[in-house]
Parts: sequence; C-alpha cells; structure tokens
Amino acid sequence: MVALKILTIVGARPQFIKAAVVSRAIAGHNRRHPSMVIEEQLIHTGQHYDYMMSQAFFDELEIPAPAINLEVGSGKHGEVTGTMLAGIENQIIARQPDWMLVYGDTNSTLAGALAATKLQLRVAHVEAGLRSFNRRMPEEINRILTDHIADCLFCPSGRAKDLLAQEGITEGVYVVGDVMYDATLYYREKASLPDRAGAYAMASLHRAENTNDLNRLGGILSAMNEAPVPVILPLHPRTRKVLENENVAVDGQLEIMEPLSYLSMLGYLENCAFVITDSGGLQKEAYFFGKKCLTVREETEWSELVECGANRVVGAEKEAICAGFSWAMEPLTNTSELYGRGEAGKGIVERLLKNH
Ligand code: UD1
Repeated sequence: MVALKILTIVGARPQFIKAAVVSRAIAGHNRRHPSMVIEEQLIHTGQHYDYMMSQAFFDELEIPAPAINLEVGSGKHGEVTGTMLAGIENQIIARQPDWMLVYGDTNSTLAGALAATKLQLRVAHVEAGLRSFNRRMPEEINRILTDHIADCLFCPSGRAKDLLAQEGITEGVYVVGDVMYDATLYYREKASLPDRAGAYAMASLHRAENTNDLNRLGGILSAMNEAPVPVILPLHPRTRKVLENENVAVDGQLEIMEPLSYLSMLGYLENCAFVITDSGGLQKEAYFFGKKCLTVREETEWSELVECGANRVVGAEKEAICAGFSWAMEPLTNTSELYGRGEAGKGIVERLLKNH
C-alpha cells in the first residue's frame, strides 16, 4: 500500500547528490515496511543538462530516473524560474503528491517550493536555515523565500535552526544533520582515486559574484597560479564560458580539467593537500575529508567551519589568498561532528511519515 507520495524537485548538480541520499533512505524504508510504501517521483527541471553536470550523477549514484525532465535549460533568472514554475505546477496537478521535497538554494528549489505552496501542497526543504547575509547572491534569495514558505524545514546544524528562529520560523524545524555528510560516508569507499603522484590542491569556481567580475576572477586565478602545489580546477561550464570569452590566461600551478563525476571528486578530495573554492558543498566536503579550505568569497553560510578553524574566508584578492596558503598546507586536526552522524536521510524520511 502506498502510504505517502512525494514529488522531489532536482535540477542542479549538488541536488542530485542530496536527492540520492534521501532516495536511498526511501528505498530502505520500503524494503523494511512493504505495507507502508513511500512512492517518490523525481522531477528534473533541466537546469543542468550537460552529461557531466547531470546524467553522470544519475548513473554513478544510482538515482532513480526522473519521471520527467522539464528541459528548462539556461537563461535569465526570471525566465528560467518562471518556466520551471509553470512546468512544476502542471506536474503537481497531474501527479497529486502528499509532499513536495526540495533541496538547497537553486532556482529549481524556489520554483518547486513556490509552485507547491500555491497549490496548498506541503513543502519540505532540505538544507534549511542557511544564510550568507548577502542578498546579492541569487542563492540567498532562493533560500530565504523557500524557508519562509516551507512547512517542514530540515536543518543540517543547530546553527541553521537558530538562524530560522531569528526570522520567526520555529514550527516544523528539525535538525537532522547534513545529507552531504551521509553521501560522503556512503560513497567514500567507492571513490575513484586519481592516478597522480605528488601533492596538489583541489579547487572549484563558479559563483556568479566571481565569474561575472573579471577583477575577482583574475585575482583568484593568479593566486591559484602561484600556489605552493599544483591546483586542480575542474571547470564549471559557467566559468569555462567566461574564460573563453575574455581570453583569461591560465598558467603556472593551475591545471584545468573537465567537470569531474562525484566519485572522482571524492577521490581527488581524499588525497589533496587542501581545498580552494567558492562552492558551498565543497567547503563542507573539505571538512569531511579533514582538509583545510580557503573560501574565495566575502562570507560563508557555513560559519561554524570558520569558527572551528577548518575554513578561512579570504575574498578574491591575490595577496589575501596567497597569504592563506601556508595555513592551508598544514593538516586539519579538529574534525568534530558538526553535521550529524550520517543519518540525515533516514531522519528526513521518518519525519515526513510522522508529519503525514
Ligand atoms: C547553480 C545554482 C548554484 C549551485 C550551482 C551548482 C542557482 C541560482 N544557482 O549555479 O546555487 O551552486 O548550480 O553547480 O540556481 N551550463 C551549461 N551546462 C550545464 C549547466 C549550466 O553549459 O549543464 C551553463 C549555462 O549556460 C549557464 C551557466 O552554466 O549559463 C550557469 O548555469 P546555472 O544553472 O544558471 O547556474 P550555476 O552557475 O550552475
């Protein structure tokens, strides 16, 4: 018997990893409780569409195939979010789920939450309560709006719960831990180790605030060129486009490559000296692997990582980034359990059933 019908929205790379965790927890529940089955249908908005940004994750992480791909693709924020909104609304009407499940802070997240709430479908938000306090970031607006319309808010940390309380959100808030920590624990053993010798640093770079500002982009890349070890940068298509259009020079210690699959990324993280990034997910993954992280932004939503000495927010100026290298090369000794114990997926599934 189907006890609960969930419609899950995914669209961008980090959401495939997060959804893989919960989908596996749902499959586990269904095996244990065949008389109380949860039916999950995935809607892929098509925000990410290159093979290495999307299908590679479905194949490698064994994520159930989406019920439909809305193939929204790229465009201006309003245009993309609006097209998703219309597409998701039709899917809700056709499929009549009990819950809408959304992840993180992308345009797909907001579109899913908004479409659902207007149809009085209950919304569960995984990775609720994160704030950078920088409203110029599209992700910050997506997070705030999603949290304020969600009925069930799954926080990765106690800090996130406190931040929600400061905005008056206290009902339906649950600290379950971080699904990305679950993912790291589960997939770590399956990671593909890189075939390379010698120390290196692992990098990623794709935030609009860095790619759309050539001064910032130039500062970050020239610092990477002068790092004490080679810096491996699997390039997000957004960043690749800017580098090609602007003829930005890449040389020195910087080694550019195509986007990596999740299991390859884990392998590179396992063996790296440190991480340098503007991504939210990679800041935490660095910590999960016991590596220090230089964050090339002006702030971070993962402030507990800064407080525990695992992360330094160094901005985008070459000198400030270079000044962080010797700190980053030293091993990280403090790795406490900031993000739960790897049972976030299970906690989410149990709570959704309970609240049904
Ligand atoms: C999006 C999310 C960001 C998340 C990131 C992970 C928003 C506002 N941002 O940013 O929070 O950290 O995903 O990767 O939702 N492109 C391709 N092929 C693809 C995907 C994108 O070429 O498969 C190009 C598009 O042309 C687009 C650009 O990359 O112009 C940016 O893509 P978009 O989805 O808008 O945002 P991301 O930068 O990926």
